[in-house]
Amino acid sequence: MKILLTGGAGFIGSHTCVELLEAGYDVVVADNYVNSQPEALRRVEAIAGRKVASYEADVCDAAAMDRLFAAEKPDAVIHFAGLKAVGESVEKPLMYYRNNLDSTLTLLETMKKYGCSRIVFSSSATVYGQPEVLPVPETARLGCSSPYGWTKYMIEQILRDQAAADKELSVVLLRYFNPVGAHPSGLIGENPNGRPNNLMPNVLNAASGRMKELKVFGGDYDTPDGTCVRDYIHVVDLAKGHVCAIRYAAEHTGCEAVNLGTGVGYSVLDIIKSFEKSTGVKVPYVMADRRPGDIPAVYADPRKAAALLGWHTEKSLDDMCRDAWAFKEKNPNGYGAE
Ligand code: UFG
Repeated sequence: MKILLTGGAGFIGSHTCVELLEAGYDVVVADNYVNSQPEALRRVEAIAGRKVASYEADVCDAAAMDRLFAAEKPDAVIHFAGLKAVGESVEKPLMYYRNNLDSTLTLLETMKKYGCSRIVFSSSATVYGQPEVLPVPETARLGCSSPYGWTKYMIEQILRDQAAADKELSVVLLRYFNPVGAHPSGLIGENPNGRPNNLMPNVLNAASGRMKELKVFGGDYDTPDGTCVRDYIHVVDLAKGHVCAIRYAAEHTGCEAVNLGTGVGYSVLDIIKSFEKSTGVKVPYVMADRRPGDIPAVYADPRKAAALLGWHTEKSLDDMCRDAWAFKEKNPNGYGAE
């Protein structure tokens, strides 16, 4: 079975490539490399010992997608490609709506033309906004707080509508919580463009001295230690969730939303402590003001993923910290020149 990964050279895409190859699937990647590097795919090949066909292509480019489907005839698609910076989406909403929605519509039209009827979509826990219930189940009320989040919400709706109209179609909407960590080989990992926004890349920068100190955004939340609580998930566990979703999509039609999280929430200070314990490296930090838009606590109810996909997480917070640090130490400049 051949799987097309849009955005397959990115952080989650590259780890999913490895897991699919190791599970025996054939993989083809379409990526425009706006937020990723072809080098990630060379390293995927090194880890898996298999070749990855890749196309430098924008998923919004209908002619390029048509050529790719005609040549490769994928049996299923995992749609990772998309712009993903929350802050940037607030400044440039039109760019986010145009890119993320257009690419999905083009992809779905091309899939329809070529009779490809299985799609797994990279959604996000951001579609829950401020959840009313914790841990948050898939049935929770949805609502977002950024244009980025709304693109995920809207794409979920587009896919749900299309699955209702096309009885052949199989859609799995994977709602990721907070992916961190790296492949244990240290060959692939997260490689953010410019100044990172997310917590773990900033922990790594503070620990390596690239940044003077980590700013902990808010110590006065109504949480056990006053800092925000999130459901951090090892990217290899997350990648394996995609293999399970592809297996499920091969055997079922319809549309299902599934949380991919551990079910356990950790605070920002928990992350710092776990990082220091598992790596032996200090994280200099200061308490700072709250970051606008942050939600005090979000963590997943992961029971549907277990029941429907037979998936559960295996790795600990210490694994996440240790593997993220190993990638950073081996690749201080990401995939660029050392
Ligand atoms: N944080 C810091 N210092 C930093 C960076 C982050 O204290 O330098 C804190 C944040 O305030 C938050 C926590 O670390 O409390 C996690 O922040 P991230 O930015 O890593 O993650 P978020 O939960 O805010 O964002 C994630 C995804 C987004 C998604 C969003 C909403 O990265 O794609 O969840 O669900 F949109």
